[in-house]
Amino acid sequence: MLYIIDSANVEEIRKCVEFYPVDGVTTNPTIISREKSDFPSLIKEIRSIIGPDMMFHIQTTASDAESIIEEAIALKRTVGGNFYIKIPISPEGLKATMELKKMGIKVTMTAIFTQQQALIAAKAGADFVAPYINRLDNIVSDGVHVVEEIVNMFNLYDIKCQVLAASFKNVEQVHKVAMVGSHAVTINPDLFDKLVYHPLTLYAVDDFATDWENVYVDNSVLDLLKGEANGNKGIKAESMKSLKPLTLKDSEENSAEKK
Ligand code: G3P
Repeated sequence: MLYIIDSANVEEIRKCVEFYPVDGVTTNPTIISREKSDFPSLIKEIRSIIGPDMMFHIQTTASDAESIIEEAIALKRTVGGNFYIKIPISPEGLKATMELKKMGIKVTMTAIFTQQQALIAAKAGADFVAPYINRLDNIVSDGVHVVEEIVNMFNLYDIKCQVLAASFKNVEQVHKVAMVGSHAVTINPDLFDKLVYHPLTLYAVDDFATDWENVYVDNSVLDLLKGEANGNKGIKAESMKSLKPLTLKDSEENSAEKK
């Protein structure tokens, strides 16, 4: 499953690219306008951070097919690389999709709320469809179920279009779309941190550190391997006894205790 960053904030994108195995960036007019920066410079900077191979999905603001196509061509020329034009589904959007595919420009059809919107977008040639999970959940629909049926339909008809699930508010939603076969998720940078965080992981790592320090004090694995340890082989004096190999006498005492 592909992990995509749903943000236009260059610092957040830089951090996600450094720490997480991400596959690209998606934006929309709301995400872009939050940054309040010069649009062409912003998208060029994002491209320079993610490099030419990662997917970069940028949304059109036009509503008629001709203008959507013009924007797609201009955006592709500006950012280059692995580019997708995001088009909200509409009759004009579908018309633009069919034309853009002939021109070799990849399309992500977005603002998908139903299975039939996804199917017709795929038939028009969309490479990805982007159903909005949290927005569906908010109207007491079931975002995960919609994704599941889209994935099943695409499998049933051997359709190459992929599902890029979007609009997430929590880890549970991401997990559930992964379990029903979503090909990709686009999530905000905070949610990447939440996917990784678990308090029990932190407790476990704390315990490892304490147990290590009880014996090896502040010597790291590398200190010990390089032979640069402080003290006697880097082992705390009072730990030496318990680390000594067992003698015959020790084992006789142990077996006597067990009896
Ligand atoms: O990519 C679409 C996504 O950004 C929508 O998310 O949180 O505005 O529902 P949201």
